[in-house]
Amino acid sequence: MGSMAMASTFMRRLEGKAALITGAASGIGESTVRLFSKHGAKVLIADIQDDLGEEVCKDLGQPSASFVHCDVTKESDVEGVVNTAITKYRKLDIMYSNAGIAGKLEPSILDNEKSEFEKIISVNLIGAFLGAKHAAGVMIPNRCGSIITTASVCSNMGGVASHAYTSSKHGVVGLVRNIGIRVNCMSPHLIATPLAKNLFKLNDKEYCYGMYSNLKVKGVVLKSEDVAEAALFLAESKYVGGHSLLLMEASPL
Ligand SMILES: NC(=O)c1ccc[n+]([C@@H]2O[C@H](COP(=O)([O-])OP(=O)(O)OC[C@H]3O[C@@H](n4cnc5c(N)ncnc54)[C@H](O)[C@@H]3O)[C@@H](O)[C@H]2O)c1
Repeated sequence: MGSMAMASTFMRRLEGKAALITGAASGIGESTVRLFSKHGAKVLIADIQDDLGEEVCKDLGQPSASFVHCDVTKESDVEGVVNTAITKYRKLDIMYSNAGIAGKLEPSILDNEKSEFEKIISVNLIGAFLGAKHAAGVMIPNRCGSIITTASVCSNMGGVASHAYTSSKHGVVGLVRNIGIRVNCMSPHLIATPLAKNLFKLNDKEYCYGMYSNLKVKGVVLKSEDVAEAALFLAESKYVGGHSLLLMEASPL
């Protein structure tokens, strides 16, 4: 089949939709911006890494994507970026709260500082709460919209990351279940983004051939793009709500 014929069969699943993604300058968020944009959505990138966010926009080109500086721990920033989406696109169809930090790995609770614990909860859990709250403010009157959050495999198990990170991601799933209709999260296993590589001090090679190599499904490595595909499903599905979608590459078999 020629490339013209191939191009005509591609279905743009988010044509005409407006999306806002936090933590979208890097990793999973960036992959999702690219996928949503490919599927016809206008995407607002909200992040604290201005240079990286602007670079993604430049790469995709206006009006496909725009960048707004937003610290998800600040309610005024989150409210402001939702208002920017409404001003720019006249609506908000998809709110994806993805911003997250891992913090330090301190196995003993005795070494954990309260300030560090609060910092992680503030970005990972309160950030997701603020995103859902302000998006719901515009979605409830319209009676439509999809709210998505990135939790983690750490929402489902202990002993993998810090106490604060694990608590924050358990909290995200609780929040999603409590809000209910058209609010979902994804719970991915380890992916080689800057967050995970810094936390576990990994380079790509070690990640691919070291971690969990005895448990891997042959030839499969979980990537940011796989989480983006799951976000696309949650963004467009009509009746899915209150779920945590587990994305694992490792299998105990
Ligand atoms: N990489 C993994 O293995 C993995 C696994 C499960 C879940 N997650 C989750 O996926 C999400 C995305 O992480 P990633 O792995 O793509 O890492 P990443 O570091 O590539 O991306 C995280 C983004 O969040 C942004 N961010 C951090 N604090 C912020 C704040 N206060 N306000 C706005 N933006 C902020 C960062 O600037 C960055 O662009 C996080 O919630 C993370 O907990 C990651």
